[in-house]
Amino acid sequence: MRPNLTPTPPGGAESDAAWSASIRFLHWVVATLIFTQFALGWLAVGWRLSPTKINLFVWHKSVGILILALVLIRLLNRLTKPTPALPPDTPAWERIAARWSHALLYVLMIAMPLTGWVINSAAGIPFRIFWQVPLPALMAPDKHTADIAALVHFALGVALAGLLMLHIGAALRHHFVKRNSVLIRMLRARRTGS
Ligand code: HEM
Ligand code: HEM
Repeated sequence: MRPNLTPTPPGGAESDAAWSASIRFLHWVVATLIFTQFALGWLAVGWRLSPTKINLFVWHKSVGILILALVLIRLLNRLTKPTPALPPDTPAWERIAARWSHALLYVLMIAMPLTGWVINSAAGIPFRIFWQVPLPALMAPDKHTADIAALVHFALGVALAGLLMLHIGAALRHHFVKRNSVLIRMLRARRTGS
């Protein structure tokens, strides 16, 4: 099945383009949580063994599960709502790059928490989301699986960080170089002109 995660091809006028309020809201909430999550992950891994390290991990894992829940809601929302067309002068390669990079962002936003969940399960660490709700284990403890999952979690994190640099760079290029409404329409309902 081809992912339908980018603006529909030309057809609609760009001035009518708008992301729904819920898509915009979830985009920026999840973006903020993902940046926080990188900081928490790296801090937790690097911290010396202490109660603070354990708390940093509880925060990291809890925020990660929250991201998973929000992304699943967002994906459902995204697949059932119309998507605004890119500006008509957008070249084909950019449309393809946007389609596939957005799809890959979704894959990584889901794969990151899932691999984290696998590490936690295989490491046999009892964990309560935000100190409240126990997270069920996906498998019996197994050190080898935990090590592999940690490696995959790390590699996917590097891939996500790289893709985000491209994503943010593309958004800034739309705004400052191409001077179109692509960034603005993710920030508010309607562009005001130009
Ligand atoms: C979008 C969600 C997530 C992101 C972006 C993320 C990112 C990261 C990053 C950047 C690190 C540091 C990597 C390293 O230096 O080795 C890390 C480590 C870790 N994360 Fe996540 N994480 C996410 C979700 C989760 C979840 C949901 C869990 C568990 C339920 C989790 C468990 C862990 C664990 C146990 C480590 C330490 C791995 C090790 O010992 O090498 N993560 N994460
Ligand atoms: C400063 C950070 C960010 C900026 C400036 C930014 C900017 C944008 C803009 C302008 C769009 C709309 C593109 C269009 O209209 O065709 C967009 C869409 C999108 N962004 Fe971001 N973004 C940021 C962070 C993130 C993060 C952290 C993620 C997830 C890891 C993300 C995932 C997505 C996805 C999947 C879309 C496609 C629309 C959707 O399905 O929600 N963005 N972003």
